[in-house]
Amino acid sequence: MLQYLEWKPTGRGWWASVLNGMQRMERGNPWPLLPPAAVLAPSLLASDFCRVGEQIDRVAAAGAGVLHVDVMDAHFVPNLSMGPGFVRSVRRYTDLPLDVHLMLTDPATYIERFADAGADSITFHVETAADPARLIGRLRELGLGAGVTLRPGTPAEALRAAIRDVDLVLVMTVEPGYGGQEFMGNMLAKIAAVRGMLEERQRLEVDGGINAETAAWCRARGADVFVAGTDVLGGGDVAAAMRALREAVT
Ligand code: DX5
Ligand code: ZN
Repeated sequence: MLQYLEWKPTGRGWWASVLNGMQRMERGNPWPLLPPAAVLAPSLLASDFCRVGEQIDRVAAAGAGVLHVDVMDAHFVPNLSMGPGFVRSVRRYTDLPLDVHLMLTDPATYIERFADAGADSITFHVETAADPARLIGRLRELGLGAGVTLRPGTPAEALRAAIRDVDLVLVMTVEPGYGGQEFMGNMLAKIAAVRGMLEERQRLEVDGGINAETAAWCRARGADVFVAGTDVLGGGDVAAAMRALREAVT
């Protein structure tokens, strides 16, 4: 299994060793380096912010592939969450790749700030991007992974302009804004439709109401990155929840 092992500040980035083959890579786009198997992406939105380091240790030990960071601006969604300062602290603490989900009306203004804070991949909402190709181009210039996502009410066809050039599409399986909501079963058809639009190299992430049961439904439709907040960090047994998720998607 791939792991990020050692850190060395080199200029503006760091270098990590990869266990299988000890190849070295510059910090940045994690998606092509992760194993083809399903990736578990615990969402730090559900963490206790006073104990987030300890909770990162737990999900890392339980096989998290990336950490999912939910950024909300109280405009695109009604809620406020974390900003670049949080990402910077997490970046200093862990070598897990940071998968940053921007729920912002104006993602273009904030991409550099999150990149500078240590994001490895940034996903923006297609509803907020007047020119998705330009946003993706900027993410590429910064050496980051690029993802695009859409609200449950936005049809998959809205992805057409962006989908060819991204590493990942995130299908929201709840209305973005809050953790702890119920999985929307009517998103399963959309997951299958989006998988049909993607190349094999591209990841299909699901986010919202994910637990062992709903993750298995999504896996059967082609999802391969599973964001889970409440199920993993909502107060129960972290290792047991991660194990159940892993079994459900393997
Ligand atoms: C919701 C966020 C999710 C959230 C998921 O807007 O995008 O990442 O953390 O939380 P759960 O897993 O509790 O539904
Ligand atoms: Zn999210």
